[in-house]
Amino acid sequence: MKISESILYFLAKQLYTRNPGQSEEMTEALSDSEAYAEYRQQCVDKVMRAARQYDVPVTGRRVLDLGCYDGALSAGYLKAGAESVVGVDIDVDAIRVAQERHTSDRLTFHPSEATQIPLPEDSVDTILCYDVFEHVARPHEMLEEAYRVLRPGGKMLIGTWGWYHPFAPHLWSTMPVPWAHVVFSEKTMLRVCRSVYHSDWYVPNMHDLDEDGNRKSDKYTEEAIDPDYLNKLLISDFENVFRQSAFDARVHQQRFSSKYAAWTAPLLKVPFVREFFTAYLWIVLEKKTDLASQNAQDRTSELAASI
Ligand SMILES: C[S@@+](CC[C@H](N)C(=O)[O-])C[C@H]1O[C@@H](n2cnc3c(N)ncnc32)[C@H](O)[C@@H]1O
Repeated sequence: MKISESILYFLAKQLYTRNPGQSEEMTEALSDSEAYAEYRQQCVDKVMRAARQYDVPVTGRRVLDLGCYDGALSAGYLKAGAESVVGVDIDVDAIRVAQERHTSDRLTFHPSEATQIPLPEDSVDTILCYDVFEHVARPHEMLEEAYRVLRPGGKMLIGTWGWYHPFAPHLWSTMPVPWAHVVFSEKTMLRVCRSVYHSDWYVPNMHDLDEDGNRKSDKYTEEAIDPDYLNKLLISDFENVFRQSAFDARVHQQRFSSKYAAWTAPLLKVPFVREFFTAYLWIVLEKKTDLASQNAQDRTSELAASI
């Protein structure tokens, strides 16, 4: 092991049992499939809370769940009052599971790249895109496609993380050292993730185990993060992507809720520094109503009212 790897491994081992990067709730959720199902319902509640808070309508709307995985959240959105939900994901196996598990005719699933959504233009009222945007390799194209399928006046809600979040998104379980991905090289960090994963003190979660209950051997084998897995965009990169899109965008930065982190709240207003202290991002994108078609609609409504 190189010195940098030894230092990071040492720190990871010291912090592992308290893992500040992974909440107790998340650790519990990953312990077995029942707990995981319950956790996914909590995710639905979280998205619905954000939708209410940021005025993104779901009840009675045609919803697109962009990056739906196995459809657990899509089904939750339907239960929460959506008129219909279409789930789309690039993962063909996950879509197959979604189709097997959920059989309502108001819930449909399609295997598809987010940049080529198999829906007509202006055909959905609301797009929900939770924990997906950090994975999308071509975010500009994805937004173009989202804009195409969303009806004028419709809104899209994205929930995601900036790459300089204290804990590298999606590496939480093996890397409990804050900002390890910023301070150390990617190669060093991934090598240490691998050593942590194979150590005797690492407690594997349900995703780490194969059908026979053995630790999978093909995890953390890469020495660089695949850009098709994580795009590593910062908050400022996200803002640029949104600015260049046809949408009207509002980015809502969330601070860490722990009382020990209250002091970080003002830092969310400081350019660049905010990248390191923002807990989560909710982004609301609105496809503005075309003024001409709005006026035409208004005239039609006036005419209808006068007859
Ligand atoms: C972390 S999972 C979140 C899934 C789901 N939204 C949820 O919260 O349960 C990210 C999902 O995004 C999907 N995804 C990533 N890139 C995509 C793309 N370019 N087009 C469509 N789906 C994509 C992945 O296949 C994966 O299912």
